[in-house]
Amino acid sequence: MTPTVTDFPTNLIPSSAQRPADDPIFALNAEAQKRAKAGESIVNATLGALMEDDGTLAVMPSVIDAFQRVPLKKAASYAPIAGDPEFLRAVIQDCYEGTALAEQSVAAATPGGTGALHHAVMNFLEPGQALLTTNFFWGPYATIAIETRRAVETFEMFDAQGRFHVAAFEAGLARVLEKQKRALVFLNSPCHNPTGYSLDEGEWSAVSEVVRRASDRGPVAFLLDMAYARFGSRAAQGWAKHVARMIDPAVVLVAWSASKSFAQYGSRVGALVATHPDRAERERIANALSFSCRGTWSNCNHLGLLAITSLLAEPAQRAKADAERARLIALLDERVSAFNREAGAAKLRHPRYEGGFFVSVFTPDADATARSMRDEGVFVVPLKGAVRVALCSTPARDVSRLVTALRRGVDAAGARR
Ligand SMILES: Cc1ncc(COP(=O)(O)O)c(C=O)c1O
Repeated sequence: MTPTVTDFPTNLIPSSAQRPADDPIFALNAEAQKRAKAGESIVNATLGALMEDDGTLAVMPSVIDAFQRVPLKKAASYAPIAGDPEFLRAVIQDCYEGTALAEQSVAAATPGGTGALHHAVMNFLEPGQALLTTNFFWGPYATIAIETRRAVETFEMFDAQGRFHVAAFEAGLARVLEKQKRALVFLNSPCHNPTGYSLDEGEWSAVSEVVRRASDRGPVAFLLDMAYARFGSRAAQGWAKHVARMIDPAVVLVAWSASKSFAQYGSRVGALVATHPDRAERERIANALSFSCRGTWSNCNHLGLLAITSLLAEPAQRAKADAERARLIALLDERVSAFNREAGAAKLRHPRYEGGFFVSVFTPDADATARSMRDEGVFVVPLKGAVRVALCSTPARDVSRLVTALRRGVDAAGARR
């Protein structure tokens, strides 16, 4: 008899042999699409890309133009290992323009923000050590940590008033420093995925104080994941001024990404920016990041780097992109306002939501809530203690149905307890 595949002992190393097949979010999306194709009316609030109201991907014509204008021979050449210097300068300016921090920063190009997160984990934690993040977090943080033989530790994200839990952050940082004598913090703001939360001025001020104090007890790298930076409210954009308080001795890292800001998810353009006042330390960090680039993907998509550089650095192109992005932000904001209005009326419990691709709704049993919603054709992503709702892929006209399904789903979960 011919043996079936499962009869073979695996060639994989044990830690790779039991990996889950599909990302669960993509699996949910596949089911939503299959049912929609079969003719059912579906609300698919699972995916992390901004969609137009007609269900097509929202893109920016100025970005497409910029890609088309890159000379093909230049695009075909290898990018420098750490990325073109013009790209790195433009990204640093994008983070810190008009402040002294720009001169105190180095960077490396990465395939999206994901690559930046990877480099941070590889270079600021020893194998076996854990990064510290909020208890609600983007799942791939754990994937990256496991893949790189590190781990994730969390602290409670919200206090009793529903605000960022500064005391839990401070305790978590102290715990990690005590245990491993160094810390790497991942904080995703504005428009945190999955909760939608953006730190306000007071919370930023408190966080920077905590980081500064904790740095007395060991090296701290504080990484701000800015995947959704351009979609935050104006109030949420004021984080840069708090960086000055954290650096020295802490290093501040920014995981920068063009995926959402330029609606270019597939081009894989990103960077890790590191800010520190000491020149020698900056040089060491730049060398380490460049080494990691060589040791993982060699160099990034040159076409993407060149096109995004022109969009960042050439004022006319930048202005065009900003205007087009403003339309996308308005499209999303209309959905955010509709959600806040309807969810308030339906008495759903969710974090402060001032803009961004996602919001989370708290529930005693997320699987039961998501299942009940799926039964009526509304797809959301179950998390621990909440379901994630992607307003980025939900037209404003569907928000009422979405909220009604959420209310019923949360009630169904409550009833099961
Ligand atoms: C919180 C968060 N960080 C980082 C990323 C990285 O995205 P990319 O690698 O496309 O830049 C994402 C993408 O969904 C995200 O949600």
